[in-house]
Amino acid sequence: MANPFKPTAGMTPPVLVGRTDDIEDFSYALDDGVGAPGRLMYLTGARGVGKTVMLNALGDIARKRDWLVIDETAEAGFINRLIDALHEDDKSHLSSLTMPTASISIPGAPISASVNLGGAQFAPPAERTLDFRRAMSAKLDKLERKHRGILITLDEVQASSIAEIRSLATAVQHLIREQRNIAFIFAGLPSMVENVINDDVLTFLRRAERKHLGDVPLDAVRQAFADTVTANGKHADDEVLSMLARATNGYPFMIQLVGYWAWRASETGPTADAGEITVDAAERGIAQAKLKLGDMVHGPAIDGLSAMARAYLLAMAQDDGPSATSVIAKRLERDQIYANVYRTQLIKEDIIYQSSYGHVDFKLPYLRDYLREHGAFHQMRRTIAGLTD
Ligand SMILES: Nc1ncnc2c1ncn2[C@@H]1O[C@H](COP(=O)(O)OP(=O)(O)OP(=O)(O)O)[C@@H](O)[C@H]1O
Ligand SMILES: [Mg+2]
Repeated sequence: MANPFKPTAGMTPPVLVGRTDDIEDFSYALDDGVGAPGRLMYLTGARGVGKTVMLNALGDIARKRDWLVIDETAEAGFINRLIDALHEDDKSHLSSLTMPTASISIPGAPISASVNLGGAQFAPPAERTLDFRRAMSAKLDKLERKHRGILITLDEVQASSIAEIRSLATAVQHLIREQRNIAFIFAGLPSMVENVINDDVLTFLRRAERKHLGDVPLDAVRQAFADTVTANGKHADDEVLSMLARATNGYPFMIQLVGYWAWRASETGPTADAGEITVDAAERGIAQAKLKLGDMVHGPAIDGLSAMARAYLLAMAQDDGPSATSVIAKRLERDQIYANVYRTQLIKEDIIYQSSYGHVDFKLPYLRDYLREHGAFHQMRRTIAGLTD
């Protein structure tokens, strides 16, 4: 039996847990007609929270309504790629119609987005912006006759692509003013999206509907495990289902990792052929899932931080539970105002949260364990001594 869980970035999971309301909001906005606020939307949240798969799901909603959906990632040259997609004769229309609902084929996604262009910004010439507007208008002229529209999704929004995002958003703004049948959704990490939203040229994007994706409820996770396991020909009893759900902490990527590795573990060991996920298999699966989470999420998340933000996390990891921000500042040998800059940054990125007044705790599950297991934790004092930022 094939493993039904999908612990891969951008892969649509067997059950999209806890996102029904967001999907319904978008369906409503499409049915509500031109100018509905939910047609302009942005998705943010931590790595692995499910931004890309939400874009896929929202794209499917539009496809079901016979809309043309164009998915792009915000990497240099995307305006040109959008224009190409619009010019492609009705091929794209046909392929979008035949795409099964559960499909995840987004051309070009998800490509690693952390390419640093060293501040160099790719600015499309003004006529490309105009070309894009014209291409959209021409396509809409045809589609709107049949009450169809165009949805553009832009994933991996990042600071380095702001010049192009400006062009795209300006064109979208015009099309909205002209009451065209369009929708635009963009997604990225919180700080990235914030840069875009706060851009002076793009003030109208501030009115876009914001969905900050977060953890999903554990009972929904448990139900998803129960449904997926049963639907795919295995069995797990209540205790096992609860163990699996608890181990995810409601963090979407962890749902797939725990599911995948527990399923796999159930295919080795003494009860391998009984179609049963035993407590033992669940334990082995959860242990493996934690390791993978470190490689796939914690490592990259930490690499993307400044040295001081990393030091802040390492200082937190010395506590077994919530950390007092005053104590963290002391460990960092900095005053509290200085340390708070990093506290704020980490909260914004959904990596930590304020657990009570003057206290912070980890939000990404198992990050504390990860930090402790990695050498840097033990070298913390040395690291801090060498900090220059
Ligand atoms: N609501 C959900 N229910 C179950 N699994 C989910 C859910 N959302 C996401 N996943 C799973 O989590 C993993 C990460 O999802 P996705 O790649 O969409 O995250 P992301 O927010 O785009 O991450 P990144 O910031 O790294 O691009 C995938 O394996 C996906 O199947
Ligand atoms: Mg993504």
